[in-house]
Amino acid sequence: MKKITLEPEDIKVEPLSESNKNHILNFSSTVCQELDAFLKENAFQEHILGFSKTYLYFYRSELAGYVTILTDKQTLRLERPHQDLKRFQTKTENGYTTIPALKIGRMRVSDNFNSQLETAKYCGLGKIMFASILDHAKELSTKVGCRVITTHAKKSTGAYLWYQKLGFVYSHNEEKTKELLAKEEYNAIPMFYDLKRII
Ligand SMILES: CC(C)(COP(=O)(O)OP(=O)(O)OC[C@H]1O[C@@H](n2cnc3c(N)ncnc32)[C@H](O)[C@@H]1OP(=O)(O)O)[C@@H](O)C(=O)NCCC(=O)NCCS
Repeated sequence: MKKITLEPEDIKVEPLSESNKNHILNFSSTVCQELDAFLKENAFQEHILGFSKTYLYFYRSELAGYVTILTDKQTLRLERPHQDLKRFQTKTENGYTTIPALKIGRMRVSDNFNSQLETAKYCGLGKIMFASILDHAKELSTKVGCRVITTHAKKSTGAYLWYQKLGFVYSHNEEKTKELLAKEEYNAIPMFYDLKRII
């Protein structure tokens, strides 16, 4: 089935709140149970506690996806030279060992909007959601230190390939990355996106 490509103006974003949290119960997805459980069981509590902030993405009146963000840091692993972290590593004479970051803690779209599913009617929502995360990061970086966006990309859903397409790179060097990708005991792989490519 040919999918309908969504445009930013098709989507309405709302921070999770008392007045819209009833929509969470109808969120339907089969791809990753753990991400659904987080939305239904923990997202609101974390939101209230100020541990993370969750944003809901609506297509018409349907909850189509959500993103949970929080602050983070990208570690500079000086003992393991990294091609993309090299430019930061040369600035660490003053003892910097981390880079301030905004983290994508959770992110998912419902089945009907998952571009990888044959049965989905729509595509393009993930990209629209990422554009809004970039807006948050840009705004944050005008007020506090924030240089990269980090994430732990799921292996089982192929999310790391999607992040790669958007311009994310692996947070570990090549050797460690190969190990993380190869071994089953690792279910996610850390990645980052340098904001300076857009700011
Ligand atoms: C990852 C996810 C958010 C992407 O959302 P989406 O709406 O399906 O993605 P988009 O339609 O915006 O995709 C943008 C591009 O990436 C491609 N893409 C999407 N998912 C991909 C994947 N898993 N692997 C490789 N490419 C992928 C699309 O084909 C599209 O390519 P194009 O620009 O050449 O047409 C969504 O698939 C999802 O929720 N997955 C399950 C949960 C998950 O893994 N979340 C990430 C948590 S770490």
